[in-house]
Amino acid sequence: MTDEDTIESVLKEDRHFEPSEEFRQQANLDPETYEELVAKADEDYEGFWADLAREELDWKEPFDETLDWDPPFAEWFTGGELNLSYQCLDRHLDTWRRNKAAIIWEGEPGDKRVLTYQELHNEVCRFANGLESLGVETGDRVALYMPMIPELAIAVLACARIGATHNVIFGGFSANAIEERVEDSDCSVIVTADAGWRRGKEIELKDAVDEALSSGCPSVEDVVVVQRTGRAINWYDDRDHWWDELMAKQSADHEAVPVDSEHPAFLLYTSGTTGKPKGVLHTTAGYALWTKLTSRWVFDLKDDDVYFCTADIGWITGHSYIVYGPLQNGATTVMYEGAPNYPRPDRLWEIVEENGVNIFYTAPTAIRSFMKQGDEWVDKHDLSSIRLLGTVGEPINPEAWIWYRDTVGGGDVPVVDTWWQTETGGIMISPLPGVTTTIPGSATKPLPGIEAEVVDHDGDPVDPEANEGGLLVVQKPWPSMLRTVWGDDERYKETYFGRFPGTYLAGDGARRDKEGNIWIMGRIDDVINVSGHRLGTMEIESALVSHPSVAEAAVVPRPDDVKGQAIVGFVTTEDHADGGGPELSEALRAHVGDEIGAIAKPAEIRFAPDLPKTRSGKIMRRLLGDIAAGRDPGDVTTLEDPDVLDALIDE
Ligand code: WTA
Repeated sequence: MTDEDTIESVLKEDRHFEPSEEFRQQANLDPETYEELVAKADEDYEGFWADLAREELDWKEPFDETLDWDPPFAEWFTGGELNLSYQCLDRHLDTWRRNKAAIIWEGEPGDKRVLTYQELHNEVCRFANGLESLGVETGDRVALYMPMIPELAIAVLACARIGATHNVIFGGFSANAIEERVEDSDCSVIVTADAGWRRGKEIELKDAVDEALSSGCPSVEDVVVVQRTGRAINWYDDRDHWWDELMAKQSADHEAVPVDSEHPAFLLYTSGTTGKPKGVLHTTAGYALWTKLTSRWVFDLKDDDVYFCTADIGWITGHSYIVYGPLQNGATTVMYEGAPNYPRPDRLWEIVEENGVNIFYTAPTAIRSFMKQGDEWVDKHDLSSIRLLGTVGEPINPEAWIWYRDTVGGGDVPVVDTWWQTETGGIMISPLPGVTTTIPGSATKPLPGIEAEVVDHDGDPVDPEANEGGLLVVQKPWPSMLRTVWGDDERYKETYFGRFPGTYLAGDGARRDKEGNIWIMGRIDDVINVSGHRLGTMEIESALVSHPSVAEAAVVPRPDDVKGQAIVGFVTTEDHADGGGPELSEALRAHVGDEIGAIAKPAEIRFAPDLPKTRSGKIMRRLLGDIAAGRDPGDVTTLEDPDVLDALIDE
């Protein structure tokens, strides 16, 4: 399957699936309420949000103003005070949910832990006290570099409890990536583990933290270490603390610190068009509101549901839809530590069957790899508990969508294809399972209150009748939008609002069909989406160029039938000889792994005597993309030296 095949099949797709009467009857959002919400948002945008915020959130102090919009800077629900950890925990404790499972955790080696709301509350309070005993205060930044273990969720919520801004760094990133992120945000504490399990191997997290701290991160005073695998690690007495020892000294009482609506809740670094990752900042009230509402609307989350999102908390999907969204709704959320196909390809189906999972949320790349493994791995299990399926992270090809619905969902459950981003905080465009007619491959319509549009280069909406492509934008601020790029308001302004003042540019290409449905076509900037993970080409290029043998490098995506996109690096070596050979190729891949993390390693390195450039000296990545994908590069008249291309194609 190539990109073009996908677009081709998506363009031809016209299978429509109506919600079943049975689903519609019990759905959290029925068509009538939906229409009312849309009309209300249309007539009185601020009133719409203010009413929802009053109903949904537990305010310590009510807010005075709904929206203060000084484009592109937004403040929502100003004057209000609340606490995100209180929202997720305390408010359930005087209800029947107190002894309900909040988190069902499955470890990769087969261990399991269930935490009720009361137990989770106790652990979070202890860790909040533990952080305070280390001197962490409201407003400080705390980095979490951890495996997918319950302590990660506990640490996230403990930060929220004292109003410390968490900065979760995905456990697959390298020491360099930790250093960059911790330094950019001046974290005072890092919480980590000795190691994590992945495919039966230990991922050495503490070693990476030690390495980052040996060369930088002067702001870090303490490191808290969870013992997960028991491997031997280096220990620094003046800095390191065992999680268990710290926790043993703490009380299970801790009063959640009320913070301002606009208090920085967390930073999450994500890749963009320049070499440095951006610290996307989310604040408290707006984020709480939208993650809570979207969990209930889109996933139809009910009190007796067991909900399983397969993401890692190191990415935004895990923040919003493993931790904050489900817990605010008092749901039972399943967390799995390891690889989806370990020790066997049916690991996830085992988890679904054993825990009676009702709602299952994963990425298209995972669905494509399940398809490849064969139906027998799914058919072995009783998955009849599943009543809703979701996808996120990249466009889903209709074939995978249909397979998901039929084989995993038994042919009669709604599939919600949810479009959103780290920057949007929560789901923006998605079917509502009791309302929307779905079409495989389309995220369908913006949710109530979200003014998403597809516009042309002048910023005018494209004509749905013409079935044209354009740029995906959001025309009004929404409560869970990012507030800025940490420490760099200019970059925030330029990246997201530089093109159309006052309108948020998502960085995705999209198309609107005659029924008004939106079809996401993929990134229009220098971001590659590998297995639903965002990686910046510039970041990978700077990693390659930092290797002593490399003179110049360009990184482009190549379509991949499981990962969506794979990374191809074109490299010119210092001596400009064309053949770098397999050894250098392996060394460069390893080097990118060290600089960024294993997920960023190119699938392929191609050596070339020169890279194709325009007369003004810009590398023509579009041409390289065509070559990597085996497509005809088409018009090459702007090339400075057309012979360069022949050399590349001949390779
Ligand atoms: C892509 C992940 C098509 C898109 C939540 C976006 C999607 C980027 C979808 C954000 C979808 C996400 N259909 N593409 N349903 N969902 N994307 O920040 O290119 O890791 O801009 O957030 O993923 O990736 P991020």
